[in-house]
Amino acid sequence: MTANRITVHDVAPRDGLQIEARFVPTEDKIRLIDALSRTGLAKIEATSFTSPKAIPNLRDAEEVMRGIERVAGVGYVVLVPNEKGAERALACGVDEINLVLSASDSHGLANLRMTAEQSLERFTNILGITKGSEVFVNASISTAFGCPFEGNVPFKRVLSITERLLALGVQGITLCDTTGMANPRQVADLCRETLNRWPWLPLTLHVHDTRGMGLANTLAAWQNGVTRFDAALGGLGGCPYAPGASGNVCSEDLVHMFAQMGVETGVDLERLVAAAEMLPAMIGHEVPGQVIKAGTSNRRYPLPAGLR
Ligand code: COA
Ligand code: ZN
Repeated sequence: MTANRITVHDVAPRDGLQIEARFVPTEDKIRLIDALSRTGLAKIEATSFTSPKAIPNLRDAEEVMRGIERVAGVGYVVLVPNEKGAERALACGVDEINLVLSASDSHGLANLRMTAEQSLERFTNILGITKGSEVFVNASISTAFGCPFEGNVPFKRVLSITERLLALGVQGITLCDTTGMANPRQVADLCRETLNRWPWLPLTLHVHDTRGMGLANTLAAWQNGVTRFDAALGGLGGCPYAPGASGNVCSEDLVHMFAQMGVETGVDLERLVAAAEMLPAMIGHEVPGQVIKAGTSNRRYPLPAGLR
């Protein structure tokens, strides 16, 4: 059974801006998030509360969270790797904390200086910190479909990490294809297996389009029961500690695809494209998104002169 309604979470302000060559000024970040807030997106991953040495581009996380105008109905999410990040996030009154760990220890150590086991220990402490607050706690499993250092990541390992996270009290899980190594059959199988085991689970798919399989993987997940998708405006994105990483599946391309299929996303595509049009000036280069260049498939051209 495929759903007629899905939700889209834009991660460009976090996954996108973290890897840009230049620091995007705080006021531009706020302008971008404020524009996204008026498009009908369910969630916006606004920033991360990470070490400013690890992710200098997002060193202004507090200022961003305090500067944005929060629109009712939009969930404001931040990425958090450790206890300090969780405390900073709670102090800003975020709606959702997105914990991050890696399914492969090589990427975990490169990105977070933690193995999966060490991350899980830290998360136990974090859930102690968030207890009693209203914040929703999600966990993102990086390299769930393959690791740029180790290659294959067994399903068994990802399923067992999900099980451990849920036992700790994590409320939602995101399966991340950090460097675009997943293929549609693999995505279908892991999503189906995860939802078979935990049918009630708010499961999100987070894919990168590094090898051109982003939308195909999105479709495969939707065909297997997934209704929540991370995507980045303009197709920005990438983890600075995953060699070869490139952009997320593009939000406006994903919304366009589902709209053409008659699947509701709640997102106003025109407004989303208008927000994407802000990006080149903000980041200093063109974006990989396609609909922004081609227009929607409703676009029509005049017949060539000789045929009129
Ligand atoms: N926010 C701000 N500062 C933090 C922090 C946080 N969440 N966590 C640690 N720090 C600071 C510490 O205060 C310390 O500062 P000091 O040098 O001024 O004393 C310094 O960072 C080192 O702290 P430590 O706990 O030893 O962290 P680490 O150096 O082992 O780094 C992480 C671990 C997780 C903090 C770091 O690797 C990180 O932020 N990674 C995020 C990577 C990321 O976001 N990748 C892309 C998304 S997948
Ligand atoms: Zn990502």
